Amino acid sequence: MHNINRMSVLFSIQGEFRYHVVRKLHEGGMGVVYEAEQHGARGFTKRLAIKVIRQSFTDQKLFIENFIGEARLVADLIHTNIVQTYHLGETEGRYYIAMELIRGVNLEELQERLRGLEQALPMELAVFIASRVTRGLSYAHGKTDRDGTPLGIVHRDVSSKNILIAFEGDVKLTDFGIAKARGFLQDQEGEVVAGKADFMSPEQASFRITDRRSDLFSTGVVLASLLLGRNPFQGDTPELSRDRILRMPIPDFRLLDSRVDLRLNEILHRALARDPEQRYSTADQMLVDLEHYIYDRGYGPTNETLGRYIRDLFGQIPARGTEMEHATACWNSMMSRRTG
Ligand SMILES: Nc1ncnc2c1ncn2[C@@H]1O[C@H](COP(=O)(O)OP(=O)(O)O)[C@@H](O)[C@H]1O
Ligand SMILES: [Mg+2]
Repeated sequence: MHNINRMSVLFSIQGEFRYHVVRKLHEGGMGVVYEAEQHGARGFTKRLAIKVIRQSFTDQKLFIENFIGEARLVADLIHTNIVQTYHLGETEGRYYIAMELIRGVNLEELQERLRGLEQALPMELAVFIASRVTRGLSYAHGKTDRDGTPLGIVHRDVSSKNILIAFEGDVKLTDFGIAKARGFLQDQEGEVVAGKADFMSPEQASFRITDRRSDLFSTGVVLASLLLGRNPFQGDTPELSRDRILRMPIPDFRLLDSRVDLRLNEILHRALARDPEQRYSTADQMLVDLEHYIYDRGYGPTNETLGRYIRDLFGQIPARGTEMEHATACWNSMMSRRTG
């Protein structure tokens, strides 16, 4: 009896995932992100996020193939600084991703809030956020398959909207894997839709092959943006942004922000080196420099200090998203458009 139990460790569970949309969290170019409830046995419920891909993209075979391929690739990315993917599903011909729900804000929302209050993000928190992003990247870049072969994951779209801060203070990188698929995505004019032009690495901006160092440049742009309260590479159009990424002299950040000292300026310049050979070659190197910078004087920022700061800024229980009725109507209309 005992032996039989031991032998039957491998088994499968056939079940169905049941999700109910609670509210819409975000509507973007690629799809809509909802807060949803997953239902299990005996009234078990769990809140999570669901991203539904737009129909017009679902119809693009190459995009969907890459989207699915990448979703498979990131399925096993399990790290505190990465939004975890739970499930890639299909319902009525529409693909969706179920993922960890982050109750918090993205960096763009944080920046908008700070602008409204005419406040600057404390320098140490800016460095802390960038350090957590490099921590997530270091894990993803180093990820191997079960045989130990490197997966060669590059995010390709590290930008302020793809970095979330939970009200508990955790920093989470999202939109993993979708970024690569996006490279195969065509808009209505048949042009390939790229990542956010003002966070792109020079390699991306000049359509060259990218590797993990590309993500470090983008993280440098995120850090510079957090410090300055604006993205120095952002132009009025994506073309102008791309041009700045490729040509604008990288400024001496000490002249733009008095809180930046020689050391932090050097970190920024090393991350923002246009020549990948001059840049940090691994996320780990950048992580070490950032952590050294905030911790070598003793106590530095933590998830707790960041969480407290964000909660103070947004209020303890921030209202977010739209009403359930609206979300349901929105979901229904998205689903009904699938044949159109
Ligand atoms: N797991 C999540 N939990 C909470 N909010 C999320 C989650 N994923 C995305 N969001 C919200 O939706 C926005 C867009 O999500 P993202 O996955 O980047 O979609 P897009 O493809 O439109 O860029 C994020 O900036 C964030 O505000
Ligand atoms: Mg995004």
